[in-house]
Amino acid sequence: MRTIVAGNWKMNTDRLSAEALVSAVVQHAGGIVPEVEVIIAPPFPFLAMAVAKCEGSRIIVAAQNCHQAEKGAYTGEVSATMLKSLGVTACIVGHSERRQYFGESDAVIGEKAAALLAIGLTPIFCCGENQEERTSGRHFHVVTEQMKGALGRFSNAELERIVIAYEPVWAIGTGLTASKEQAQEMHAHIRALLHTHGASVAERVPILYGGSCNPTNAESLFAQLDVNGGLIGGASLVAEQFLELVRIAGKKQ
Ligand code: 13P
Repeated sequence: MRTIVAGNWKMNTDRLSAEALVSAVVQHAGGIVPEVEVIIAPPFPFLAMAVAKCEGSRIIVAAQNCHQAEKGAYTGEVSATMLKSLGVTACIVGHSERRQYFGESDAVIGEKAAALLAIGLTPIFCCGENQEERTSGRHFHVVTEQMKGALGRFSNAELERIVIAYEPVWAIGTGLTASKEQAQEMHAHIRALLHTHGASVAERVPILYGGSCNPTNAESLFAQLDVNGGLIGGASLVAEQFLELVRIAGKKQ
């Protein structure tokens, strides 16, 4: 199974700090645990720069969002085709911040993933429950519905090209992390859902953990059987921390 550490920069950095962060990651990532796949997802305006700087390195550049349509009158939006033309090869879809602040439904998220798959890009599909859903014991049901609603349309061959990130909303940017047991049981649940599409889907789709993941708590999370790395927010903005997370993920190999 692949191990992946992905950095979601969200709406952070500016031109100069983005350049400095990409450079630092590229410069130091080379020597560390080559088996771990390293992905960075800078904001749209810095993607071309990031692709140029990452050329010839191990770093994969992803976007944080895309529009589901191929092109057209959607002022301010960015299509998967545009991303591909820049050399971007992956894209986060369905992040809880997109669901919460931009009203993205599972159906729309599924359309975005379909647009990416159609042109050979990798969707990094995010799912996860909020605090109230966990407290009321509905977290497995919520994640099941998110998966079915967005990914139900795909063939096995398509599903095998997706990366999943479980990000409990209550753990994102809060300093609260899922315990290793909470992470493992949800990842095992997601794996079981994938298994209903066949063993090869379950065996091939990496499931990343996200939510206040940092070098202090990552080791026990990444060590869990069904945790195949992390989707990192805050700690991905500090090159040393992000690279340390890559090192920690390498211990899984
Ligand atoms: P934090 O690591 O800042 O909690 O963010 C996680 C996340 O949302 C990554 O997509």
